[in-house]
Amino acid sequence: MTSNIAPNLPTDIAAVLLDGVRAARRGAPALAGLEPESYAREHAAFERLSDQRGLIAEHFADRLAAIGDGPVSVLSVGCGDGSLDARLAAGLIQGVPGRPVRYVGVDPWVGSAERFSATMSALEADELSSDAYVASFDDAPVDETFDVVMFVHSMYYVPDLGATLRAALRLLRPGGELWVAIAPTAALNALVGVLAPALQGHRQWFSADVEKAFVDAGIFLDDVVALDAQIDLSSASDEVLDFSVQARLTPDLRGPVRAYLDAVSVLGSDGRPRVPHPVDVFAAMRR
Ligand SMILES: C[S@@+](CC[C@H](N)C(=O)[O-])C[C@H]1O[C@@H](n2cnc3c(N)ncnc32)[C@H](O)[C@@H]1O
Repeated sequence: MTSNIAPNLPTDIAAVLLDGVRAARRGAPALAGLEPESYAREHAAFERLSDQRGLIAEHFADRLAAIGDGPVSVLSVGCGDGSLDARLAAGLIQGVPGRPVRYVGVDPWVGSAERFSATMSALEADELSSDAYVASFDDAPVDETFDVVMFVHSMYYVPDLGATLRAALRLLRPGGELWVAIAPTAALNALVGVLAPALQGHRQWFSADVEKAFVDAGIFLDDVVALDAQIDLSSASDEVLDFSVQARLTPDLRGPVRAYLDAVSVLGSDGRPRVPHPVDVFAAMRR
């Protein structure tokens, strides 16, 4: 069943289906989370079903272009395999040939940090200096400052949002910019709220939590932009379904979860169902 609905307003049937998933979980032990290796593999497969990474890449490339033509330095927190970062680094190099570009990645999983380094090396650009730290943001031994610090889909996982935002601002040069891309609790992430196990004692954060943390920390937000992406989960494998809900689903949950996703889908221009998959981008300058 497919319906044309606004992303944040599930139909009655979607609400009933979500209640069914909630009821199936009531009193049950927490589902398992995803192991880092399978998380990274399933994330890559998930992105291939979505137009969101392209939208983020275009948006950030425009923002980077606005910084000017001089040397530029970027810290990517939760860099994953570096696919997005390499695209941005390549754009910086091609946009102003010969300009020095410094690009640093931080990721707690060694496999991702290694892939980030390999992806950056594959650019074979003399003007690019790149390093990767295998660490959580809290523990990363970063001892330099940057023009841009970005968190792309990694702020969900930090233990303390306010402390993270303040620490990120300290890693910026005066005039440097902090960019946080994070999903709102729209139709897809309503499932995460019901199904994902707690992380280090907290649930996954979403964009409303981040916005509140900026306000509570007294950090002036220069800009908040919503990018309207969509994802085709109708043909997603069970593993990609698990990534979508950030939990290892048990077989009895897969049918109800797929039925809910079907109910919140809208029709894409090719006639295939798409789940609305928006992302919010917060920007704050170090003053
Ligand atoms: C959804 S992936 C995003 C990867 C990449 N930024 C992208 O957009 O493709 C989230 C990444 O955040 C990393 N991560 C999780 N907790 C983190 C933390 N406390 N500090 C830094 N990175 C973290 C994960 O290992 C994972 O690679």
